Amino acid sequence: MKQGAPSATAGWVAAMRGLAPLLPREARLCDDPYGARFGGELAVRLRRAASRRPALAPLFSIAVGPVRRTMLWMQLRTRALDEIVLDFARASGRQLLLLGAGYDARAWRFSRELEGCRVFEVDHPATQARKRRLLERMGAPPAPVSFVPFDFEAMPLVELPARLASLGHDPGARTLTLWEGVTPYLTARAVGATLGAVRALSAPGSLLAFTYVDRELLERPRGAEAAIRRLVARVGEPYRFGLAPAEVAGFLSERSFRLVKDESHRALAGRLLPPSFTRDLRAARDESRHVALARIL
Ligand SMILES: C[S@@+](CC[C@H](N)C(=O)[O-])C[C@H]1O[C@@H](n2cnc3c(N)ncnc32)[C@H](O)[C@@H]1O
Repeated sequence: MKQGAPSATAGWVAAMRGLAPLLPREARLCDDPYGARFGGELAVRLRRAASRRPALAPLFSIAVGPVRRTMLWMQLRTRALDEIVLDFARASGRQLLLLGAGYDARAWRFSRELEGCRVFEVDHPATQARKRRLLERMGAPPAPVSFVPFDFEAMPLVELPARLASLGHDPGARTLTLWEGVTPYLTARAVGATLGAVRALSAPGSLLAFTYVDRELLERPRGAEAAIRRLVARVGEPYRFGLAPAEVAGFLSERSFRLVKDESHRALAGRLLPPSFTRDLRAARDESRHVALARIL
């Protein structure tokens, strides 16, 4: 990330989530009323316009053509992780840890469902400071969130469990850790050290839900993928880490996690979207982004 600057990609993905009203109704799998505010003025205006004139949604959908696929990806990945969070809360899970939380608004979006659950948000200090400023400015209601400014590349991850414990995290109780949209931006060393920290702070029965990109995509980006790579690199957040889907179970088990499920965006589209959208999301690059769930052994 750029020295001292908040993550640009965090703003982009939040905006994509917040622009759900621009998608046809059947493709709206979740809504994030806070997302556009973190994304900037243009996102706020677009959301407002689409919400006021829902009949025009198909037109907006055409207007956002170039980023429509990314918007659908965000719907899929957010919904997949929402399901995991809500299942955990229903099963009396009481600790939710967001690593690289960015502008994740689950603590606010699910304030009712997460009642009695502590939320810990760990993120790069600059991104987190901007989030807290904007939450205050938009008058977001108070939520049971403990904020931990932390740089995964520059700070010792072995210290993270103690930092969390000092804020009330109980390593003896189950934790659901979400690591959404973060692994591609980290070095392999930081990914390994983060998994070590999650292992150390997680009681048996705890879960880790994370997203990753197929290493193949990093090694041989083509067409639109090459353009995305150039764009993220230009804002100081280059893709650095990927995994081969066939190796994920082994990679995790070497680190004391058991893979429970792993779904590509294409598989998620097949499960969550009507067939007309499935046809839109059957390119190789839809198979290259994954949402995985692992259990701590
Ligand atoms: C694409 S955003 C995803 C944000 C959020 N999880 C979401 O899905 O909306 C990437 C996040 O990783 C965080 N991040 C990247 N490198 C980091 C680092 N070295 N230390 C801490 N956080 C980092 C950024 O601050 C940002 O919040």
